[in-house]
Amino acid sequence: MKTAISKKTSFIAKDSLVIICKIFKVNPSYAFTKEQTDYILNEIKKNEKKAIIINALNRTISVILIDHVKNHYLNLETLRKHGATLSDALNEDKRDSICLLNETSEVDYSLALTEGIALGNYQFTKHKPSVFKKGNTLKSISIIDSKVNQQHIINASIAIDATLKARDLVNEPVNYLNAIQLSKSFKEMGKEAGFKVEVCNKAKIKQLKMGGLLAVNQGSVDEPTFTIMEYKPKNAKNKKPFVLVGKGVVYDTGGLSLKPTANSMDLMKCDMAGAAAVSCTMYAISKAKLNVHVIALVPATDNRPGFNAFAPGDIITMMDGSTVEMLNSDAEGRMILADALHFAKRYNPEMAIELSTLTGAAAAAIGQYGIVSMGTSTDEQKTKLTVSGLRMHERLVEFPFWDEYAELLKSDIADQKNLGGPYGGAITAGKFLEKFTNYPYMHFDIAGPAFNTAKDSYRGKGATGYGVRLLFDFFSNL
Ligand code: BES
Ligand code: MN
Ligand code: ZN
Repeated sequence: MKTAISKKTSFIAKDSLVIICKIFKVNPSYAFTKEQTDYILNEIKKNEKKAIIINALNRTISVILIDHVKNHYLNLETLRKHGATLSDALNEDKRDSICLLNETSEVDYSLALTEGIALGNYQFTKHKPSVFKKGNTLKSISIIDSKVNQQHIINASIAIDATLKARDLVNEPVNYLNAIQLSKSFKEMGKEAGFKVEVCNKAKIKQLKMGGLLAVNQGSVDEPTFTIMEYKPKNAKNKKPFVLVGKGVVYDTGGLSLKPTANSMDLMKCDMAGAAAVSCTMYAISKAKLNVHVIALVPATDNRPGFNAFAPGDIITMMDGSTVEMLNSDAEGRMILADALHFAKRYNPEMAIELSTLTGAAAAAIGQYGIVSMGTSTDEQKTKLTVSGLRMHERLVEFPFWDEYAELLKSDIADQKNLGGPYGGAITAGKFLEKFTNYPYMHFDIAGPAFNTAKDSYRGKGATGYGVRLLFDFFSNL
């Protein structure tokens, strides 16, 4: 459900209301009854509650206490999480709107709470039309905060919309979203937001000699695609473009190295979450008309065991002419990303950031709580990305990128194997990819946070849209 966000200067007594404050001060303008006020005060003083929600017959009212002393970024995350809880309560109480009153001096608080409410209000309803009738009632958020300006509202709406678009793409199963259909979605997004989209079909991919992408596609009836998206405003501040690369495995069966079904293959419609993140970032930056030149590349295919599926032991010649001894067809992401990263060399990028649901090892290392990050970009760029990660709570955990890990990929009969040793699997995958770059490069493994099997606050259940808010914030603050 798309939630409308707007600015307002006042509210009336029947409006549902949420108040963000440091200390709760009784104010007649809230139009709370004495019972409501007493209840709130009691919850705060006796029960040490930080967030109170009351279903008051004709309105829902809520008070959130925020402690300025705590880490600012964690305060923002607390507000987002309260936002998701409040969104559930509002829908439970069948409200269609909420007024948000910020009594603190922090403009970010209004925006974070708004984000939590709107992202928490998301439902993937496409294949369950009955949900439209019984589904969420919440339609709009009105912010009463003189510090919030129209630009804040526009940018918040864009970040939220783009994140929810990414969720829609990832939640869509492969029988509705194969590589061709995915590239059509990119075209539509480009048309709507105003960025250029060029889709290479299988013939063109053959002409480009993208051996990795073609190898992964061998087991499939559906053709692969390679999509080039470009946003180049006249007033771009950067001379060299930023390049984003997203893993577009629309479904990962593991290929001949077949995955087990439970808690593994059954989740693998999410294997294009990197592609969703980069394309929806393009959508956001061009909607926001940021002054930055960005290119996004998405190699896309499903990974299946049919036909002449590439077989463990195969030697594949990649687009850059190097050879790979392919020992596990479930390590397919690196095969298609390698060609995209080689392709990116033609742009002489300022930096390339690649997002992929690449390894179970990344998820095993840090769970769903952040992004496994590694790479060769400058400390300055790494710091900017890290700060965006903290601000958006899509945190980066930097892993070592030592050359010793690359030694684990040595093959007797080819330039590299696509499989490392038993340890450091997230890193060997990154080191494999580094070989195909000659520019500052960051690898973000989002296998942990991309898709939730249980509801996680405003990130929800299913696709989270991870990476969009991080990258949009990074480009907005360059
Ligand atoms: N798409 C998977 C990784 C994945 C795992 C994504 C869990 C989301 C959740 C990837 O293609 C894969 O299968 N990786 C293998 C690599 C291994 C064979 C070297 C893995 O992690 O087991
Ligand atoms: Mn795989
Ligand atoms: Zn995969």
